[in-house]
Amino acid sequence: MTGIVRIGLLGAGLIGKEHANYCMSAEGVELTAIADPSPAGQEVARELDVPHFVSYIDLMDEAPVDAVIVALPNIMHADAAVAALERGLTPLVEKPIADSLEAAERIIAASDKHNVPVLVGHQRRYAPDIVAAKRFIEDGGLGHVVSVGLLSTWRKDEKYFDVTWRSRKGGGPVLINLIHDLDVIRYLAGDIDSVMALGSSKVRGFPVPDTAGAVLEFASGAIGTAMATDAAASPWCWDLTSGYGAYFPSPPPGDVYFISGTEASIALPSLTVYRHRGANNWKSPFETSVLKRTETNPYVAQLEHLAAVTRRQAEPLISARDAFNTLAVAMAIDESMASRKYLQVPQLHDKGEYTDDC
Ligand SMILES: NC(=O)c1ccc[n+]([C@@H]2O[C@H](COP(=O)([O-])OP(=O)(O)OC[C@H]3O[C@@H](n4cnc5c(N)ncnc54)[C@H](O)[C@@H]3O)[C@@H](O)[C@H]2O)c1
Repeated sequence: MTGIVRIGLLGAGLIGKEHANYCMSAEGVELTAIADPSPAGQEVARELDVPHFVSYIDLMDEAPVDAVIVALPNIMHADAAVAALERGLTPLVEKPIADSLEAAERIIAASDKHNVPVLVGHQRRYAPDIVAAKRFIEDGGLGHVVSVGLLSTWRKDEKYFDVTWRSRKGGGPVLINLIHDLDVIRYLAGDIDSVMALGSSKVRGFPVPDTAGAVLEFASGAIGTAMATDAAASPWCWDLTSGYGAYFPSPPPGDVYFISGTEASIALPSLTVYRHRGANNWKSPFETSVLKRTETNPYVAQLEHLAAVTRRQAEPLISARDAFNTLAVAMAIDESMASRKYLQVPQLHDKGEYTDDC
C-alpha cells in the first residue's frame, strides 16, 4: 500500500490518549477510530471527533484501518495483536509485547503465519540520545563494552494505582518501566544472557515489588546493574531527565545510563563521552565531549515508522522477536526476585528457537 496509513486505537487510557494526540502531528498517518468501552475512552473519541467502538473486534471489522495501536492492559496484548494479524492489520503493540513469554510466542506465530509484521512500542529507540549513542557505540567509540549501569527510580502518585493491573502480577516497575531501560540497554550493549535480582515490597505493600535491583550478564561478557523503583522521590529515570517522556515535567538534567568500554565511557541522556587524554589508564586526566543529537519526538517518530512498516517500506525497528528477548530479561528479573536465584534468560533468534530452555 502507499499513502496515508489509517490507524485504529485500541485502548484510550494513559498512553493511548497520547498516541491519539500524536497521530494528529505525525506524517503519513490518520487516526480513523478508537475502541475503548470506558466513558473516558468514549470522551477521547468525542474530543478528537473520530468514530468510537466499544469492542476492538468491531473496530477491526468495521472501521477503515490499515494498522492498530494496542494500548490495552498488558494481559490483553496477545489476543488483540493476534486478532489484528489475522485480519492483515499491522499492530503497534505497546510494551511489554505481552504479559508472558507464551503469549508473546502466540503473537510471533500469528505474525509468521499471516506474514504481517509487528512493531513493538519501545519508543525510546527513536529518541535522539539513544539514536546518537547507538551510532557511536556501533562505530566502536567505546571499544569493547565492559560495564553498564542503569537507573529507573521515581515516585508514582497514589492515584496511578487505582488501576489494579498496574500493581498485580504482570504489572509493577520491572514489567511496566524497567523493561524500557532493559530494551535500551540490549539495543546499545547487546543481549543479556543471565540475571540475578532482589526485590522489595516494603513501601507500597503490593503483590509485586515496588523496588528491584538486578545484576545483568551480557553475551559479550559485560556486566551490568539495574535499579528500578516507583516508590522513591528520585529524578533518575530516563522519562524525567531526558525530557522526552510523554507527560512529565522535566526535572534538572541528570544521567541514568552509564556505559563503559575499554576505550571510553558514555552517559545518557546527556551523551557525555569521557576519554583519557594520553595513556588510556586511570593516571591520565579525562577529556569530555558531548555527542550531537537530532531533535525528534520519539512517539511521533514511532508512528511515522509504523506507517512505513505498514506500507512494507521498512522492517520493524523493534520486531516481535526482539521484544520477546527484552521481555525475557524482565521476566527473568521478576522470577529471580521471587526465587532469589541466578537465572539464564531464554533468547529467541530469527528462526524462532530458544538458545536456552530454562
Ligand atoms: N510506551 C510508553 O511510554 C507507555 C507508557 C504507559 C503505558 N504503556 C503501556 O501501554 C499499555 C496501556 O497502559 P496504560 O497505562 O495506558 O493503561 P490504562 O489502564 O490507562 O489504559 C488502558 C485502556 O484500555 C481500555 N480497555 C480495557 N479493556 C478494553 C477492551 N476490551 N477494548 C478496548 N479498550 C479496553 C481501558 O478502558 C483503558 O482506557 C500497557 O501495556 C502499558 O505497559 C506504555
